[in-house]
Amino acid sequence: MSQDYLDFITNVKRKTGIDLALYKEAQMKRRLTSLYEKRGFKDFNDFYKAMTSDQKLFDEFLDRMTINVSEFYRNAVRWKVLQEKILPKLLKQNKRLKVWSAACSTGEEPYSLAMVLSNFMSLSDVSILATDLDSNAISRAKAGIYPERSLQEVPLDIKAKYFQKDGMFYKVEDAVKKTVTFKKQNLLADNFEQNFDLIVCRNVMIYFTDEAKDVLYHKFSRALKPGGVLFVGSTEQIFNPQTYQFETEDTFFYRKV
Ligand SMILES: C[S@@+](CC[C@H](N)C(=O)[O-])C[C@H]1O[C@@H](n2cnc3c(N)ncnc32)[C@H](O)[C@@H]1O
Repeated sequence: MSQDYLDFITNVKRKTGIDLALYKEAQMKRRLTSLYEKRGFKDFNDFYKAMTSDQKLFDEFLDRMTINVSEFYRNAVRWKVLQEKILPKLLKQNKRLKVWSAACSTGEEPYSLAMVLSNFMSLSDVSILATDLDSNAISRAKAGIYPERSLQEVPLDIKAKYFQKDGMFYKVEDAVKKTVTFKKQNLLADNFEQNFDLIVCRNVMIYFTDEAKDVLYHKFSRALKPGGVLFVGSTEQIFNPQTYQFETEDTFFYRKV
C-alpha cells in the first residue's frame, strides 16, 4: 500500500472512526482517486488537507466511499423465498420477530421487509431496526420518497397498497414508515444488538476485505437467536458457513444452528 494512501487511512480513521483498511483496497482507492482528481488535487495528502477545512468536500468523500445504490425487493426471487419459506418457518418459532436491516442505505430494504411482513401480521405489530454508516442516506430513508425506478420489482398489489404517487415520485405510506427505527451505525466498529430472528445484510459485504467479512459473520452469528436467519446479497454467499455456526437454509439464507 502506498504511504500516501496509508496516511490518508490513518487520518480518516482518527477523524471519523471509519477504517478504510477494512474495505477492498483497489476498489476504494480507485473510487477516491477519481474523486480527488476531478476536484483538482494531486494526491491523497492534498485531498485530506482540503477535506478537513471544507465540509462540502468531506461530505463528497463520504458519499463516494459509501455506495448507496438500492431498490425495493432487490433480487425479487430472493424476497419470494423470504416470504414463502423463511418467514413462515421463523413465525412458527415466534409470533413477533426481531428484525434488522444492516446497511439499509436509503430505506428501500427495511420498507420492503415491512411490506413482506404485513402479509403475516398487522403493520402495528411490525418493528424493524435499520442502520447505516451514512447519515445522509438515513435522512433520505426517513423521508421515504422514491423515483419510479426504485419500485420496479415491487409486486403490483403492494405498490397500490403502500405507495402514494406524488408527481414523478412515490411516497411510502406512514403506516409502513412507522414500523422502522433508523440508527446510525458502523458495522465494522460498533456493538450489535442481540437476539434477532432475522438479519438482512445485503450488498455491503462485497466492499469489505476477507478479514473484515470474517469478523462480521461471527458478529452476525452471535447477534442471532438459535434458529435465526441471516439474509445476504445475491453475490455474497458464505463459503464455509459452519465456521460461523450457520447452515444453509436456501441460497443466500443462513440459519444459526
Ligand atoms: C449498496 S448499499 C446496500 C443497500 C441495501 N442493503 C441493498 O442491498 O440494496 C451499501 C450501504 O452500506 C453502507 N455501509 C458501507 N460501509 C458501512 C459500514 N462500515 N457500516 C454500516 N454501513 C456501511 C453504505 O453507507 C451504503 O448505504
